[in-house]
Amino acid sequence: MKSMENHWNAIFSRTDDEKLGWYEKDFSATLALLRLIPEDELKHVFIPGVGTSSLVEMLLNRGLRLTLNDISTQALEKIKERTVAQRQRIRYLCHDIARPLPAETGSADLWLDRAVLHFLTAGEMVEGYFANVDRIVRPGGYVLLAQFSKKGAARCAGLDVRRYALGDFEKYLPAYKVLASREHTYYNPSGEARPYIYALFRKGRLL
Ligand SMILES: C[S@@+](CC[C@H](N)C(=O)[O-])C[C@H]1O[C@@H](n2cnc3c(N)ncnc32)[C@H](O)[C@@H]1O
Repeated sequence: MKSMENHWNAIFSRTDDEKLGWYEKDFSATLALLRLIPEDELKHVFIPGVGTSSLVEMLLNRGLRLTLNDISTQALEKIKERTVAQRQRIRYLCHDIARPLPAETGSADLWLDRAVLHFLTAGEMVEGYFANVDRIVRPGGYVLLAQFSKKGAARCAGLDVRRYALGDFEKYLPAYKVLASREHTYYNPSGEARPYIYALFRKGRLL
């Protein structure tokens, strides 16, 4: 997987955040779903493929603990620099999210993924990813997925992507209930439309 790490490192080292093809400053689509989670049920959020998203600061401002994962050391270094003051509430984890997470990775109340799962194109990668989801999300916890929809682009960041419909997520989350789902069109910094599907799931309590 070194080649994937190098691919993403090259992007993050040569591109300013605001020019990244997935740069976002309006988090309303994510916030609309986060509002459905009772505040007292949300303390620790696991964010796979966090990139350099400023959603991190927004969640830290709410007092949450975060595990920030990425395959790119460059992205994690950038995030680390921005979050020095809150380091005691953050765990940084450089790891391929399609592979089993280290045994010491703690459980979380929410798994929050925007635009990472869709880069896992092989079936075994997707299965590895969802095995991690299920290991990390506590019973009664939540999964928020925001990925390119079936109407979305076929490629991003120079890579092929796998596009999703709600039913595809459901197939991999049989023990989870859909709480909400919606289509959302994101416009990238070049003004191109990027249709996404957003969905919030809750894990069953008795498994
Ligand atoms: C399109 S960016 C999205 C970043 C962030 N989630 C956001 O919404 O701004 C995809 C991110 O996933 C990371 N990534 C790609 N493949 C990954 C993998 N197999 N494991 C962990 N992170 C990965 C990339 O380095 C990059 O930061």
